[in-house]
Amino acid sequence: MGDYIVRGKNPLDGKLKVYGAKNAVLPILAGCVLSGGTVLLKNCPRLTDVSYTLDILRRLGCKTAFDGEEILINPAGADLWTVEAGGDMRSSVNFLGALAGRFGRAVLPAPGGCRLGRRPIDIHIRALKAMGVDVETDGEMIYAQGRPHGAEVQLDFPSVGATENVILAAVTAPGSTVLTNAAREPEICDLCRFLSAMGAKIHGAGGDMIIIEGVGQLGGCEYTVMPDRIVAATYMCAVMAAGGRLEIENAVRPHLGEVERVLTRCGAEISWASGRVDIRAPKSVRSCGTVRTGVYPGFPTDCQSQVMAVMACSAEPAIMIENIFESRFKTVPELRRMGAEIYCSGRRALVRGGELHGAGLRAMDLRGGAALVIAALGAEGESRVSGTGFIARGYRDLAGELASVGADIVSEDR
Ligand code: EPZ
Repeated sequence: MGDYIVRGKNPLDGKLKVYGAKNAVLPILAGCVLSGGTVLLKNCPRLTDVSYTLDILRRLGCKTAFDGEEILINPAGADLWTVEAGGDMRSSVNFLGALAGRFGRAVLPAPGGCRLGRRPIDIHIRALKAMGVDVETDGEMIYAQGRPHGAEVQLDFPSVGATENVILAAVTAPGSTVLTNAAREPEICDLCRFLSAMGAKIHGAGGDMIIIEGVGQLGGCEYTVMPDRIVAATYMCAVMAAGGRLEIENAVRPHLGEVERVLTRCGAEISWASGRVDIRAPKSVRSCGTVRTGVYPGFPTDCQSQVMAVMACSAEPAIMIENIFESRFKTVPELRRMGAEIYCSGRRALVRGGELHGAGLRAMDLRGGAALVIAALGAEGESRVSGTGFIARGYRDLAGELASVGADIVSEDR
């Protein structure tokens, strides 16, 4: 992937459209192995993580076709339970619950993604063991044996992935599963709507208790994936740093409550029409005060880096507290190189920004990479952002989309 070359201080003005959510489509694709028929998914974003997941489905024996933003999957030929690819992709772990549910067996790489911290899977393992699936890991691979059965499962922490794995293991398991301390993210609701469209019986998605009544067989379905709330939030942060105004279509207000509150504190003028948010940046960005990330509906950890980049463009000090991942401040050294003063202690960062200048920047993870682009939009002069392969994992064409609304940004491989 080519570096991005960004010349900052070009106010944005125009319309962007939010596409399908990465963190919804990935578990939904894993869930396709449970289908007894053909699945047509709409509003699927062309991301590298989606391509990796389709590759895994094909290696399992499924037939897949990706046309425009529609994916057709026929899982009838799936006869393997070993996932080879995907080691560097956290969401390959969703195949654990789906394959255990379909075959009573699963072998897959332990998830990568060590850039945000350890990323353990102990909660997944305890949950599936409670459902009768024996799961072992040697740190490299995960080995599961045994067909899941309905059970009472209490998560120690509302892990998004563990919640998804329990649901995927439970939908065709004999008996009922009562999952407590479940994650409440909108992507969980999207997965449950998709599975219900195939005939699953799920109650309580979006709350912290979810009841799944196992059914013998799931059918096929046609399903439209929800819009990506983190992409919408990323666009909102981009205009805050660059200045100007954006109309963002397909944004879902309830999914962006905390983001709206924080950016309004920073001086954003935000108004909503049906399925669209208009945001106008202030002349100078004010401090967001203290932002604490948390599980949904708290402030999303996946927007922490982007808001830190906005704060780097503000002369007023702000405090970011990262409560979900133990090392999600990888952008700090890069923002310091642009002139921001940032002091970190554990999960806290004090950000004292101001007039940033362009610099050579290196993305180290997906959302951190988007954050560096945001900071470059608000900086005087030229920045070069390398490591854009991380950005492509979760953003369809960040450079092209920002350029279409007035940013001076080009990707070197174009
Ligand atoms: C999902 O990751 C998302 N990824 C992440 O988005 C998101 O940041 C995260 O949820 C939190 O919202 C996908 O959906 C593909 P968790 P996941 O299990 O499921 C610890 C992005 O940028 N934990 O809720 O891996 C874990 O280490 C990505 O799009 C355990 O300790 O998140 C972390 O500190 C980044 N043991 C915390 O819980 C476990 O068994 C939250 O993890 C599982 C998790």
